[in-house]
Amino acid sequence: SKNTLIAPSVLAADFANLQRDIEMINNSEADWFHIDIMDGVFVPNISFGMPVLDAINRHAKKTIDVHLMIVDPDRYISTFKKLGADVLTVHYEACTHLHRTLQAIKAEGMKAGVALNPHTSVDLLEDVIQDIDMVCIMSVNPGFGGQSFIENTYDKIRKLKALIVKKNANTLIEIDGGVTNINAKALVDAGADVLVAGSYVFSAENPVSTIADLKVLTR
Ligand code: DX5
Ligand code: ZN
Repeated sequence: SKNTLIAPSVLAADFANLQRDIEMINNSEADWFHIDIMDGVFVPNISFGMPVLDAINRHAKKTIDVHLMIVDPDRYISTFKKLGADVLTVHYEACTHLHRTLQAIKAEGMKAGVALNPHTSVDLLEDVIQDIDMVCIMSVNPGFGGQSFIENTYDKIRKLKALIVKKNANTLIEIDGGVTNINAKALVDAGADVLVAGSYVFSAENPVSTIADLKVLTR
């Protein structure tokens, strides 16, 4: 049996009741806080920025997993470290010098993640996989919560898992977008280690038990 990490996405929280929703995650079986930062340029949406993450960090008692959907993320690596990020994920498509960016994240003492858009092949990571602590496979086009899951994701997970094994890398596989009780088990069976869930958790009548159910389902 496996300890699949569950990372509720704060993007789907009620921002007028943010402290309540953060405490809900603290008091649940969730493993990580998933924080979506969008700049309105890399993706066609703007989520929230530094002051909000600072407020989240003052209450959050679990690992903070920051997903940067921004252009030129190198500009803000040390800022996100100061704001409490434990894992910092940049987009493959936003980094001209990805290897350098990963070293800069790790030099700040954070785990380094790389996110792939749905059209970006996992094969492109072959020469850098040993430097990556986590690959985030986007199972929707980034920018919005509540979209439907792209089925090709399973093939990408299996391909990535094979690459990680072949290169003897120590890389987690995270899945982000459209995760529910319907696909969670199959994602883990394909090789996923971390599941992000936004609208599925926060639109549930009982988010705490929904998170607990995801833990049981993915054991
Ligand atoms: C999308 C974000 C996701 C989003 C997931 O750009 O990266 O983390 O919050 O939301 P759901 O689970 O509703 O698809
Ligand atoms: Zn995300």
